[in-house]
Amino acid sequence: MVIRDHFNSRIGFILATAGSAVGLGNIWGFPFSVGNGGGAAFVVMYLIFCFILCYPIMVVEFAIGRKTQKDAVGAFVALGYGKWKFIGIMGVFAGVFILSFYNVIAAWAFGYFLEIVRGNFSIGDSFAAFTADWKRVGSLSFIFMGLTAFIVARGVSAGIEVATKILMPTLFLIIVGLVIYAFTLPNAMQGIEFYLVPDFSNVTISTVYSALGQAFFSLSLGMGALITYGSYVQKNQNLARSGVAIVLVDVGIAFTAGLMIFPFVFYQGLPPNGGMGLIFATLPGVFSTLGSIIGIVIGAVFFLTLSFAALTSTVSLLEVPVAYVIDELKIDRTRAAWGTALLVFIVGIPTMLSQGAVPELSQFIALGGSQVKISFMALVVNFANNTLLPLGGFFIAVFAVYVWRKENLNAELTVGDPDFSGSLSQKYISFCLRYVCPVLLGLVLIVTISQTYFGLNLLEKIEALFA
Ligand code: PHE
Repeated sequence: MVIRDHFNSRIGFILATAGSAVGLGNIWGFPFSVGNGGGAAFVVMYLIFCFILCYPIMVVEFAIGRKTQKDAVGAFVALGYGKWKFIGIMGVFAGVFILSFYNVIAAWAFGYFLEIVRGNFSIGDSFAAFTADWKRVGSLSFIFMGLTAFIVARGVSAGIEVATKILMPTLFLIIVGLVIYAFTLPNAMQGIEFYLVPDFSNVTISTVYSALGQAFFSLSLGMGALITYGSYVQKNQNLARSGVAIVLVDVGIAFTAGLMIFPFVFYQGLPPNGGMGLIFATLPGVFSTLGSIIGIVIGAVFFLTLSFAALTSTVSLLEVPVAYVIDELKIDRTRAAWGTALLVFIVGIPTMLSQGAVPELSQFIALGGSQVKISFMALVVNFANNTLLPLGGFFIAVFAVYVWRKENLNAELTVGDPDFSGSLSQKYISFCLRYVCPVLLGLVLIVTISQTYFGLNLLEKIEALFA
């Protein structure tokens, strides 16, 4: 019998999971979604979603994983509810899709590191040319995927714990340093105002939708990544408390990244809704103002640690399909890791080409009755983050309360936390799972899916009924 690999310590588990959560989602995705979503009102919704929807679902994922010691698909079968394994299958697909674009953006971050090392600060102005250069982006993402496969092939606990322990705090310290610098610059306060003073009059349903998707994406939630990581956790760990730590770290880093970016954006007179290129267009120019030597050092360390943060996330993304292939198809870890990585790379090729290299892919499709065509990459990002993940989360919540049942969930959460039963956190988790998650997620999903993919504006129709 193969003994299942386990994280070595309590802190090891928290670090690995935080490593999965903290990544491009915090530093690239969060600021660009805030910018596109109109600023502070988005931030408020994002925070609410993290605490009332995502945290309880995170704890369920951990509990299912640790109870069954299985991959995201096998876990549902092991609990005795084979019919619900579709949740895990959706997760495996989501893992492949997300990784297929995530890897490309990680390649941008790594490419920017190489440019800054050469002292090329003007790379911020040539973002579009950079992403259109498919040969360069393609080779960088090939290397990045190879690194991910290499780590996953060696097993979860070997590489990730160490990388996270040293690199994440380094990244955070640089961001904090940059926040302090940002506050000294002209127009910084305009940026802070955009970021922190909410104006709910501009909120549309698509703002709500993307805040929800961003919360799930940033916390690695809704696709079984945390079921899979939960399956490597030892029984003596306190899952509910670890979940709190992970949410706080993840939200804290995203929030701080926002404090850094928006003053920089307004200082440079750039539009905050710059989309997926926001940090790439903004930061190099800022680094250049630090003087050539300090600028190179800070800029290079920033993009390098960002690449490592992305690596601890790509590892967890690849781990979901790989654990499935190992556990269910009985293929050995090395082959599973390299084979799946190659598949993901191939799936990612149209995405890679959709950032300027191929015009048809760069302006691919118009969604939700809008006239503006978005790129193939934007379509995949939108579908995976805003649809697949919240949908997965919805099913996980419904499964936990109505199928697996509260008693079984609570029993697993009490393992490693004897005081859990009857505690305030137990009541909070049960309440959110039973009432808040299914209702709120269900409503948002129905309204937004019909709008995005079918061009149906249900809210307008309901308003019309009362008019
Ligand atoms: N949470 C990661 C990030 O913010 C991305 C991710 C999503 C990782 C889903 C695993 C699963 O960068």
